[in-house]
Amino acid sequence: MLFDTHAHYDDEAFDADRDAVLSAMPERNVGLIVNPGCTVESSAAAVALAERYPHVYAAVGIHPENCGDFVPEHMDAIRALAAHPKAVAIGEIGLDYYWPENPPKELQQEVLRRHMALAEELKLPVIIHDREAHADSLAIAAEFPAVTGVFHCFSGSVEMARELLKRGWMLSFNGAITFKNARKAPEVIAEIPMDRLMIETDSPYLTPVPCRGRRNDSGYVHLVAEKIAQIKGLSLDEVERITWENGRRFFGID
Ligand code: NI
Repeated sequence: MLFDTHAHYDDEAFDADRDAVLSAMPERNVGLIVNPGCTVESSAAAVALAERYPHVYAAVGIHPENCGDFVPEHMDAIRALAAHPKAVAIGEIGLDYYWPENPPKELQQEVLRRHMALAEELKLPVIIHDREAHADSLAIAAEFPAVTGVFHCFSGSVEMARELLKRGWMLSFNGAITFKNARKAPEVIAEIPMDRLMIETDSPYLTPVPCRGRRNDSGYVHLVAEKIAQIKGLSLDEVERITWENGRRFFGID
């Protein structure tokens, strides 16, 4: 079975058929899914989905793009949601300097630090979103040496990957590695050991080739595994088995 370690089923893109899509996943060979929250409301929705589906787990946190209205009370809400037995990580958190209309960098950094401190206190891993913010993401991660996690949709260099591996972090990859213009990620995948790698879809976004343009769902995660198998010279079965075990170990799922 495949483990999609990052998919957003609380997204409105699934409003019309969420239950049908999620219920069908075990038949489509997807046995586990982690749904990260992006706001307090979306984190609560992620926990509600985890309660409803045995194969769905939640992460809770505030995405950097959504931190513009941050107030400290939001952390109390995230802390309460993180106490749920199926909340397995703090995320999706991080820094996004790509869009000029995103909240100010200083605010993004403050919200990230607060989530890192919460993860340290609760001994939970984190799911980091880092877009065009590699140096600051690494620097803030280094302020919390007791916290590790995963850089999802990893877009950094081989050097950055090595640094993160040295500090005990995981890297995860999605459909973006199948795109024609993908260069850095295949280099990183070739370089890193299999036991530090996870797969994801980031549904409803980033649908892998040859299905690019459609709405993404976890049923396409095998295309990510296939690309990794091709880069690593492994069979699809091996990639499936290793990434499944990596995900379960990382998120502490029996
Ligand atoms: Ni995401």
